[in-house]
Amino acid sequence: GALSLWGGRFAGGPSDALAALSLSTHFDWRLARHDIAGSRAHARVLHAAGLLTADELAAMLAGLDRLEQDVVAGEFTPVAADEDVHTALERGLVERVGADLGGRLRAGRSRNDQIATLIRMYLREQARIIAAGILEVVDALVSQATTHLGVAMPGRTHLQHAQPVLLSHHLLAHCWALSRDVDRLRDWDARAARSPYGAGALAGSSLGLDPAAVAAELGFDGPSENSIDATASRDVVAEFSFATTMLAVDLSRIAEEVVLWATKEFSFVTLDDAYSTGSSIMPQKKNPDVAELTRGKAGRLIGDHTGLLATLKALPLAYNRDLQEDKEPVFDAVDTLLLLLPAVSGMLATMVFDTERLESLAPQGFSLATDVAEWLVRQRVPFRVAHEVAGACVRECEGRGIELAELSDDDLAAISDELGPEVRSVLTVAGSIASRSAVGGTSPERVAEQLDALAVTVDRQ
Ligand code: ARG
Repeated sequence: GALSLWGGRFAGGPSDALAALSLSTHFDWRLARHDIAGSRAHARVLHAAGLLTADELAAMLAGLDRLEQDVVAGEFTPVAADEDVHTALERGLVERVGADLGGRLRAGRSRNDQIATLIRMYLREQARIIAAGILEVVDALVSQATTHLGVAMPGRTHLQHAQPVLLSHHLLAHCWALSRDVDRLRDWDARAARSPYGAGALAGSSLGLDPAAVAAELGFDGPSENSIDATASRDVVAEFSFATTMLAVDLSRIAEEVVLWATKEFSFVTLDDAYSTGSSIMPQKKNPDVAELTRGKAGRLIGDHTGLLATLKALPLAYNRDLQEDKEPVFDAVDTLLLLLPAVSGMLATMVFDTERLESLAPQGFSLATDVAEWLVRQRVPFRVAHEVAGACVRECEGRGIELAELSDDDLAAISDELGPEVRSVLTVAGSIASRSAVGGTSPERVAEQLDALAVTVDRQ
C-alpha cells in the first residue's frame, strides 16, 4: 500500500477528492534530482550530528545513488498515492534501503524547507540556461548589425517617420534591453543563493544539523538567515518570474517589429523559409509565425507572473499550502522560453534585409526637418523660430509633393532670410546620421563603439 508521511494521529486515509487535489507529482517531479541532491547533503549533516553511523550514511548514500539512477532511467516514477516529489522519493528510498534506514532521513527536515530549497536550485540552474539562450538572440542581432553597418533606415516615433537612424543602431537598441534581461537574472542569483534547508517546518532544527554545510554542498552561498522567512517567502520565485516576463515582453517588441517589417507595405525583411509558415488555403502566403508566437507567448508569461503574485498576496507567515501554486507559473515560463529563444535567434539570424528599400525610405516623410531646425540653431537662430521655419519648409514641400532637398534657393529664401543654400549640407541622410555623434547617438563611430561594448557583455558570460 501507499506510504503516508503521517499515520500517527489519523484514523483514516485521505478522500479521493483530497488526494486528487493535493497531488503535485505531475509538475514537481522535475525537481527529483534536486531533491535527491538535498537528501545526500542532509544525510551527511545527520551523520555529522551523530544521528547516522558511518555505515548507515554509506548505505543511505548508496541507496540514493541507486534511486537517482532509476529516476534518470525512468525506472522509478511516482505512483498515484505519492502526493508529491518528496513523498515519492522517500518511498523509493525505503524500497531500496529498507524502512528502518530509509525512515531516518526525514529527521530534522520538512517538506517546507525542502521545497523552498529545491525551487531555488532548479530556478538557478534554469536562469543560466535562459541567459545563454538570450545571448544567442543578442548574437543574432549583433551579427545583423555588423553585416549592415552604415545602412540607414527610417527611425520612428509613434510609428511615424521621425529621423533617419542606422539599422545597426536600431537592432542594438534591442540588444541593450536583452543584455539587461541577462543582468537581471544574474543579479537575481545573488539573492537566490541562500539555502532554506535546515529551517524545518518553520522554526529551525533542534538536532544539531549544520545548515551551512548543506548550503555549501548544494552550491548556495550560505543558509537563509531566518527559518520562517526561509520557508514562507517566495519573492525569489516572484523575482525570477518578473525577470522572465520582462524578457518575454522585450522579445515581443522585437517580434512585433518583425511582423510589421515582413508585410508587403514595409517590405524591410524577408524571413527564411525555415522560420516561416505557409497557409493551408492561400498558396502565396508566407507567415511570420515565430514572431507571432513570441508576441502571443509574452501574454502567457504575463499571466503566469500575475497569477503567482495573486497567490502570494496577503499570505500569512509561515508556510501555507497555497505556496505549492508557486511552481507551475515559473515552470511554464521556463518551458515557454526554452522553446522560444532558439526560434527567435534563428529567425533573426536568417532574416534578410532589403537595404536599398531601407535607405530609400530613410529620408522620406520629411525626416530631415529636425536637421534643418538644428542647422538654424547653429546659425544662432532661437530654436522656437528654427522649429517654425523648418515646419514651414515641410508645409511648402507637402503642398507641392516634393522633398526638402528639392526646395530651390529661392524657395528657401522665400520661407526665411536665415535659410541660405548651405542648409542643403544637412539635407542628406548620411550627413544627418553622422551629425548625431554624442555618446549613445546613431553616428557610425558611436554605433561601432556599441558593438564593441556588447561584444564585451556577451563575452563576460
Ligand atoms: N508540495 C508542497 C509544495 O510544493 C510541499 C509540501 C509541503 N506540504 C505540507 N503539507 N506542509 O509546497
